[in-house]
Amino acid sequence: MSPKTETPSTHANVPCRVLVLIGGSGSNLQAIIDASNNHFFEVVQVISHNPDVYGLKRAQAANIPHQVVSHKAFASRALFEQALQKKIDACAPDLIILAGFMRILSEQFVQNYLGKILNIHPALLPHYKGLNTHQRVIDANESWHGASVHFVTPELDGGPIVAQIKLPIKSTDSAQSLKQKIQAAEHWLYPKVISWFAVSRLNHNHNDILFDGSPIPTTGLQFNDHDIEGTQQ
Ligand code: GRF
Repeated sequence: MSPKTETPSTHANVPCRVLVLIGGSGSNLQAIIDASNNHFFEVVQVISHNPDVYGLKRAQAANIPHQVVSHKAFASRALFEQALQKKIDACAPDLIILAGFMRILSEQFVQNYLGKILNIHPALLPHYKGLNTHQRVIDANESWHGASVHFVTPELDGGPIVAQIKLPIKSTDSAQSLKQKIQAAEHWLYPKVISWFAVSRLNHNHNDILFDGSPIPTTGLQFNDHDIEGTQQ
């Protein structure tokens, strides 16, 4: 698809407030922070469910307020989610980004933020939901792998797909090499989708997901490795 220059629309002088939920190394968080210098969005808060992750150091290095809400500190998922919701609501984000947040969120929690939570999943959804996607595509002798950005709904990895990036699998690829390639592609795709949301090119309107006013196909907007190469300096 033809990339169009982003221009702030409804958020002309007010960057979109993005809260990022993490649980790991935070490489996607880093890509999002790096891209936030476009002034269309700002990472205003990082929350990790795991206290010992490198992603928190990335937030600290970027002077972004960050905190831990550890699921282990609560007797139930409901109590964990209540605490998380309190922290999120105190920050009043326009958009919540799941970036390696490894907790399953309940329907009740997700319903509070429908249309304003995005996730990135390392597979070409609706295929390969769940974990260990890189090994699973190799075991299945697939020719293609990729990553998908989707709105979060109560169904795990099942919300409407906004965009996908598709990469060929080579005979020499391992789960580790695929992980590296897919993550590099994620770092290209996720900030792009966030920018679309920030400038209102991407809209979630009840059951409709619109991009520049037109419904997005159920497979999401499609990209491939040539799109990445085309935008690298
Ligand atoms: C990403 O590969 C993403 O697809 C998955 O979790 C991983 C997070 O990695 N949801 P990082 O913490 O952003 O490095």
